[in-house]
Amino acid sequence: MNERLRLGVNIDHVATIRNARGGDYPDPVRAALLACQAGADGITAHLREDRRHITDFDIARLAAELPVPLNLEMAATNEMLGIALRHRPNAACIVPERREERTTEGGLDAAGQFAHLQPLVEQLRSANVRVSLFIEPDERQIDAALRLGAPVVELHTGRFAHLSEGERSQELKRLTDAAALAAKNGIEVHAGHGLTTDNVTPIAAIPQVRELNIGHYLIGEAIFVGLEAAIRQMRAAMDHAR
Ligand code: PXP
Repeated sequence: MNERLRLGVNIDHVATIRNARGGDYPDPVRAALLACQAGADGITAHLREDRRHITDFDIARLAAELPVPLNLEMAATNEMLGIALRHRPNAACIVPERREERTTEGGLDAAGQFAHLQPLVEQLRSANVRVSLFIEPDERQIDAALRLGAPVVELHTGRFAHLSEGERSQELKRLTDAAALAAKNGIEVHAGHGLTTDNVTPIAAIPQVRELNIGHYLIGEAIFVGLEAAIRQMRAAMDHAR
């Protein structure tokens, strides 16, 4: 069961730094290509409705230039669906989005938004885009993912990441149980949000988890040790946990 855990590197915050000055430096596509050299198994980018970091042009370039799979994070809107169908990334991870939030807070309510999500998931699937739903580790949400026919769920690790080490056991159990339930039902399990080399070990050790998507910490750590070293250190921590 302990198959190799994939690392998806999220390069959104390279674009955040670029956009702080409004020019074209630093280039997130250059960062993505470097991440691939350092061992990233995939690249993740979130095209937010307000385009605060990644832009439409970035997505077009990533879709055309990457040697590894592109995972497009997107809100469940018709605009984003159109963009995904145009660029056909390998995967699309549907995330909840509120303009005023600083980052993606909480998982998608796949159960509550079932009717809205159903045609969207279907259209992505018929375009051969692998659909992932970014959900809380909750039985109801996994059941909804199953009924929606989503082949992948990404479990939101934000709550786990924000707890202190001594307070994590209950949330870790929720994540572990959710991963087991999803995998038992044939859904591939990914996880992400707020992961660092300090907290990744118990998440990487969940046997059913097949992929981690990590961004903010790696881009931050790149300031201190460089992007390649930051990715290699994360890769080593993940392999050690397995
Ligand atoms: N997975 C999903 C679905 C996300 O929305 C994000 C944040 O954009 C991440 C993973 C990565 O989170 P972080 O930047 O905290 O590593």
